[in-house]
Amino acid sequence: MKSIAIMGASGHCKVVADIALLNGYDDIVFIDKNPEIDMLGEYPVADEDTDLDYYLQHHYDFVVGIGDGKIRRKVQEHLEEMGADIVTLIHPAATVAYDVTIGEGTVIMAGAVINPGTAIGKGCIINTSASVDHDNVIGDYVHVSVGSHTAGTVKVGDNCWLGIGSIVSNNIDLCEDVFLCAGTVVVKNIEKPGKYAGVPARFVPF
Ligand SMILES: CC(C)(COP(=O)(O)OP(=O)(O)OC[C@H]1O[C@@H](n2cnc3c(N)ncnc32)[C@H](O)[C@@H]1OP(=O)(O)O)[C@@H](O)C(=O)NCCC(=O)NCCS
Repeated sequence: MKSIAIMGASGHCKVVADIALLNGYDDIVFIDKNPEIDMLGEYPVADEDTDLDYYLQHHYDFVVGIGDGKIRRKVQEHLEEMGADIVTLIHPAATVAYDVTIGEGTVIMAGAVINPGTAIGKGCIINTSASVDHDNVIGDYVHVSVGSHTAGTVKVGDNCWLGIGSIVSNNIDLCEDVFLCAGTVVVKNIEKPGKYAGVPARFVPF
C-alpha cells in the first residue's frame, strides 16, 4: 500500500491525485479546511482540523494541491513544521532532464518539459504542457501555468505566477512576487514585484 494525503479538495487536486495514482499511490486522501464534501471523485475528503494528525502519525506522504501560491506556501510550511514527509510528483508523461533538481512538494504535470541544467524550487507547479528550458533557476512556490514557456537561462523569483500561455524570453530575470497575466510576453528583466500584462510585458494597475 502506497499512501498519500493531498492538501486541498479542488479541481487542481484532482489532477494532482491522478499524477499520484500514476506514481503508484493506491491510497489517496484529500485534506481540506472545513470541507463541504466527503468525497472528491472516488477519494475521501478529510477535515484538516480533526484528521491531519492521523495521517501524519500514519506516515502518509504529503503534497499540497492548492493553486494559490500564498496558501500553498503557508500549508507546506505548516506541514514542514509538523515533520510531514513531503514528496515531489512527476507525471510519467512529463520530460525532465537527467540533471534537473526539484524541490520537495513540487508537482510536474503531463506534457511539461524541463531541460538540462535547470533547478526548480520547492512547492512549485509546472503545469500541463509548460516548458522550462535549459539552465533556468526557478524559485520556491512558483507556478508556471498551463502552456507557459521560459527560454534558456531564465531566473524566476520566489512566489511568481506565470499565467496561462505566458512567455519569458532567454536570459531574463524576474524578481520575486511577479504575476504575469495570461498571454504576457516578457522581453526585459522585471525588477519590481506586481502584475504585468501584454506583449511586451508592462506593469499594470488592475
Ligand atoms: C489578469 C487577470 C487575473 C485579470 O482578471 P480580472 O481581475 O477578472 O480582470 P478583468 O477581466 O476585469 O480585466 C481587467 C482589465 O484587464 C484586461 N486584461 C485582463 N487580462 C488581461 C491579460 N491577460 N492581458 C492583458 N490585459 C488583460 C482586461 O481587458 C480589462 O481591461 P479594461 O479595463 O481596459 O477592459 C486574468 O485575466 C488572467 O490573466 N488570469 C490568469 C489565469 C491563469 O493563468 N490561470 C492559470 C491556469 S493554469
